[in-house]
Amino acid sequence: MTLCQVTIDGPAASGKSTVAKLVAQRLGGHYINTGDMYRTVACAVLRRGGDPRNQTEEIAEVLPTLDLGYVLDEGGSLVLMLNGEPVKQEEIRTAEVAAVVSYVARIPAVRYWLRARQRKTVELGTIVMEGRDIGTVILPNASNKFFMTASPEERARRRFAQPGEVPAGATLASVAAEIAERDQMDMNRPVSPLRPAEDAVLIDTDGLTPEQVADRIVDRVEGRA
Ligand code: DC
Repeated sequence: MTLCQVTIDGPAASGKSTVAKLVAQRLGGHYINTGDMYRTVACAVLRRGGDPRNQTEEIAEVLPTLDLGYVLDEGGSLVLMLNGEPVKQEEIRTAEVAAVVSYVARIPAVRYWLRARQRKTVELGTIVMEGRDIGTVILPNASNKFFMTASPEERARRRFAQPGEVPAGATLASVAAEIAERDQMDMNRPVSPLRPAEDAVLIDTDGLTPEQVADRIVDRVEGRA
């Protein structure tokens, strides 16, 4: 099998993770979630008692204390490790982290620091990498780029149905507002804003199941579409 790099970008709650995992399984490749890396940095800052919303310099000082990266475990599965420990999803997918992670992701020093760690994963073989700037900045030479979208209503419904990230007492409207705020920050930051690569295939996922979206991507990657 030829090795390939598949990039899947798109806004929050557009269904990237579910689809990217399916695509990785079908291609026999590794699934890399770069949002988890930003969340892990945000979580580390919160743990030190910092407020990522107004501590740009302090955050840059935290980075050298972090040893973060994807490694293969003994069973051949890819695991995100922080300072020798596996990163736990329940710790990075919280309402507290969701509230501040876009502030961390705006900081150029954080983005440059993570860029090298994200690019390193191409050494692992076939990879399916999801994020916001993978097709534009991290792997601009990847031959298979996709940009997933969904209507704001659909994304709010999807996020509302996800446990953990939604604060207690949230409503569909408040979740929609939080997603819209995050989109604005992600699209309007000066460094690596969220936008489709010129050569990305756009997929509107409204009304499609994750399997249908994954089928489209795999067909394209394998040259059937
Ligand atoms: O995909 P996610 O919701 O887990 O991403 C968390 C945050 O990280 C989100 O605010 C956007 C940011 N992010 C980014 O700026 N660049 C990436 N490649 C991935 C995520």
